[in-house]
Amino acid sequence: MTSLFEEVAPEPTGDTPVRRITVSVNGEHRTVDIEPRLLLAHMLRQGLGLTGTHIGCDTTNCGACTVLLDGRPVKSCTMFAVQADGHDVTTVEGLATDGELDPVQEGFKDEHGLQCGFCTPGMMLSARALLDRNPDPTEDEIRWALSGNLCRCTGYQNIVKSVMWAAAKMRGEVPAEGDDDNGSDTE
Ligand code: FES
Ligand code: FES
Repeated sequence: MTSLFEEVAPEPTGDTPVRRITVSVNGEHRTVDIEPRLLLAHMLRQGLGLTGTHIGCDTTNCGACTVLLDGRPVKSCTMFAVQADGHDVTTVEGLATDGELDPVQEGFKDEHGLQCGFCTPGMMLSARALLDRNPDPTEDEIRWALSGNLCRCTGYQNIVKSVMWAAAKMRGEVPAEGDDDNGSDTE
């Protein structure tokens, strides 16, 4: 059991409410004592050191903080950590398995789906959730699934291509060769 107060908040006084929660994070059970007001994004980043979960806006707009809760994308900047009690959380650090990149990660690498990389963890987790429920999405379906994730570098074209590549890989098809287009657009 870990007390997160040392990492993310002052040591509680006698008046500070404390909740003990148990969350599976990337397949590992973590039991932590936290204040009920602690956001999930802060528990992951400051408490558990999983800094692949980014915070861009803090207002549910950008999607940089997206993680999977029981396989569904959620914005961890506007969810309390106590709401994850008893649930499975997947962060970008949990995508790779035994040192092997997830197909979505491979797709972003092969199709140049990132520029600065700030939006990339959230994009990849939203994409992963889409492909888990729809292994053969259309371009429109990919754009809709990623519509809650903003890319400040506006590399949407290659992000969509990356997800199409991952879908083809997961279906056992040989993905199309990537090109070197940087894919900047504003759609
Ligand atoms: Fe959570 Fe932007 S930091 S949506
Ligand atoms: Fe820079 Fe998306 S790659 S914000």
